[in-house]
Amino acid sequence: MSIKLVTDRIILRELEISDLENFHFLETDETILKYYGNYPKRNILETKDLLNYVIAQYEKFNTGRLAIIHKINNEYMGWCGIKYNEQQRYNYTNYYDLGYRLKPEFWGKGFATEASKVCIQYGFEELKINKIHAIVNIENKPSINVIEKLGKFNKEKFIENNCHKYWYSIINEQQEIKDEFENMNLNMSKHKFNIELMQ
Ligand SMILES: CC(C)(COP(=O)(O)OP(=O)(O)OC[C@H]1O[C@@H](n2cnc3c(N)ncnc32)[C@H](O)[C@@H]1OP(=O)(O)O)[C@@H](O)C(=O)NCCC(=O)NCCS
Repeated sequence: MSIKLVTDRIILRELEISDLENFHFLETDETILKYYGNYPKRNILETKDLLNYVIAQYEKFNTGRLAIIHKINNEYMGWCGIKYNEQQRYNYTNYYDLGYRLKPEFWGKGFATEASKVCIQYGFEELKINKIHAIVNIENKPSINVIEKLGKFNKEKFIENNCHKYWYSIINEQQEIKDEFENMNLNMSKHKFNIELMQ
């Protein structure tokens, strides 16, 4: 079954090979990549390989980057989604990270936050993830603004390729409350067991 998330103004659907031209624009536009440091300069064939890798993630992990489509005119606005990473980055391996990239004409309209919120909801409620990470250049204020609107988070500073970044961990608060409650119950039943042993 393919992933499709719907909000008031947008639809998030799985990327397809027919999105290549739009996807390539987001991989190469200098304004979009302003805070990406030494980002690889890809030709269209390299972008196609990357897009195929992104598409393969859906079946493998039931998640991945999704195309953001405007509900009214069906326009491709960018992508957003939770990716599963198996390689080590900073102190983490096998983790989920949120990412987003929009065409500049759609900035400043709340679309990135709207897309991110529904992706986080999908991660917490459908995939049952406890923490979703997001990595951002400390100078990328618009992106930091998005992340910090998404809920409870921890933030660590680190350096990667000579670039200062934040490693955000967005916390599944419902799960955290459930875990605390279960631990509390476990401790109470241990306590009860001790009392019974003493009698
Ligand atoms: C990062 C990026 C996605 C942020 O996009 P954005 O449009 O600034 O983010 P938002 O969706 O939060 O929208 C921002 C503003 O739209 C405004 N807005 C306008 N109409 C709105 C509406 N209907 N609903 C909500 N907000 C609205 C809000 O004021 C909001 O700012 P505020 O939270 O300070 O009030 C965008 O800059 C981008 O694609 N950059 C290039 C790629 C990139 O850097 N990706 C991140 C790598 S870590």
